[in-house]
Amino acid sequence: MTTRRKKPEDLRSARWYGIVGTRGFGHRSRTAQMGYTREDYQGKPVIAILNTWSDINPCHTHFKQRVEEVKRGVWQAGGFPVEMPALTLSEPFQKPTTMLYRNLLAMETEELLRSYPADGCVLMGGCDKTTPALLMGAVTMDLPTIFLPAGPMLRGDFRGGPLGSGSDVWKYWAELRAGKITEEDWQEIESGIARSPGHCMTMGTASTMTSAAEALGMTLAGAASIPAPDSRHAQMATNTGKRIVEMVWEDLKPSDLLTAASYDNAITTVLALSGSTNAAVHLIAMARRSGIPLTLDRFDALSRRTPVLANIRPSGKYLMEDFYYAGGLRALMGNLGDLIDVGQRTVEGRTIGEAIAGAKVWNDDVIRDRAHALVPDTGLAVLRGNLAPDGAVIKPAAAEKHLLQHTGRAVVFRDYNDLAARIDDERLDVDETCVIVLQNAGPQGAPGMPEWGQLPLPKKVLAKGVRDMVRISDARMSGTSYGACVLHVAPESYVGGPLALVRDGDRITLDVPGRKLHLHVDDAELARRKAAWKAPAPRFDRGFGALYQQHIRQANDGCDFDFLEPVNPPGGDRHEPEIH
Ligand code: FES
Repeated sequence: MTTRRKKPEDLRSARWYGIVGTRGFGHRSRTAQMGYTREDYQGKPVIAILNTWSDINPCHTHFKQRVEEVKRGVWQAGGFPVEMPALTLSEPFQKPTTMLYRNLLAMETEELLRSYPADGCVLMGGCDKTTPALLMGAVTMDLPTIFLPAGPMLRGDFRGGPLGSGSDVWKYWAELRAGKITEEDWQEIESGIARSPGHCMTMGTASTMTSAAEALGMTLAGAASIPAPDSRHAQMATNTGKRIVEMVWEDLKPSDLLTAASYDNAITTVLALSGSTNAAVHLIAMARRSGIPLTLDRFDALSRRTPVLANIRPSGKYLMEDFYYAGGLRALMGNLGDLIDVGQRTVEGRTIGEAIAGAKVWNDDVIRDRAHALVPDTGLAVLRGNLAPDGAVIKPAAAEKHLLQHTGRAVVFRDYNDLAARIDDERLDVDETCVIVLQNAGPQGAPGMPEWGQLPLPKKVLAKGVRDMVRISDARMSGTSYGACVLHVAPESYVGGPLALVRDGDRITLDVPGRKLHLHVDDAELARRKAAWKAPAPRFDRGFGALYQQHIRQANDGCDFDFLEPVNPPGGDRHEPEIH
């Protein structure tokens, strides 16, 4: 809790600008070289603005403009803005998956803040992993921080009807493969599905994680729901710039805001949104950076009591633009009532209760009240059993109900290439009662645990009109995807988890109400298979890949690097650099 305001001489940046001798001279003369006078920065908080803009990131195209609006706010409030480009994690383009690089951006964030004269920071992100990555690094550095969410793009358009990111890609791709739409239709969808700056506008990982950041208190109130091109998004950017300066004087840091209860708020909010299963991995990693030992079991416990209130695709009907017009996240959190701990604090220096007070729902089909929930509970279920001793997750609301208790014959693919080569083969012995299993798609196996978990259905099953089957993997799934997909199986098959031991013809039971995932093979046979299993060769022998391979944790532990988890409580030893 903040007790006193900082003075100019207390600023961290004073260690760079305030010193006598050649070092201080060097910092000041080089700032003059950039066209600034002493009046521009002396005695003022230096605000690092970490901008993940890039020509290759379509979700952040407006960040060139938004960063100017943040700077305007910083100048107005008496701060000194310094834009710092940071690694962009562009979901559509970065291969094999942005998840391979989430921890690299987290490391970059931490080291940028440590090594430069930052007093506080604004984090500009939104496209999927950029949100957890930036926050993980900033939480560890524990300087005053505000997250600026990119905002969702506008609804897609196809012949006057809305299109949703991801969800409609899977839907129409299945229709194309089943011969229900033409190649011309498909191309028209391609040009209309993403028609403005901003992140995916379904309840994918981006909307999920930016909403989680707001529920944690790390954004200005209402920030996460504003569509990217809306002028109110630009106003929010300026207000973010103004507020961060004040936060530096108040010394209001992430460690003052992030508690076990604020993480419960974030999880509850994600569940009420029917958010992406990816949130389980990211929030565990973020919480552990905060020194909070969050586990999958907490997600399952909160899921049992949390209704799904947001009627947003892929679980519901609408898109983020509709959600904003219906009242946005503040209204949704208001409808959650006593499920939210309103006493938790936010970057605004007030409580969550004060931040959401007075929020109204303008369309009660988009944002439901608890009496008219879309799904009464269980937005996410955590499964365990001999196939997933350390846990696996499923999003029941996105699956066809008859599959939530199902036993079927396994059809196993050893990796994604094997799946791609054989899934549509007419000779494949598969029908809709089978369970499709993909191995080697986890954190080490793929590598990077890509969003392959919505495994494609065999063409011959699709042709019968079937649109869902039980599918199991150690991969993740895009939040925009749907289906009876069991994900994040831990430990993963590549390191010898039981998923590696499944063979064609084994029977597998998925029991969501019972939270079970069971392989009907006795222990003696499993032990024989394990003894015969050979560890695959390492995928990397140098570079970041080798570092990743040596230190990545499993999905149930948040996939952070073991050496990045805090040794000291956040806000403790920040390992400030010496300045000579
Ligand atoms: Fe950037 Fe979906 S591609 S959020």
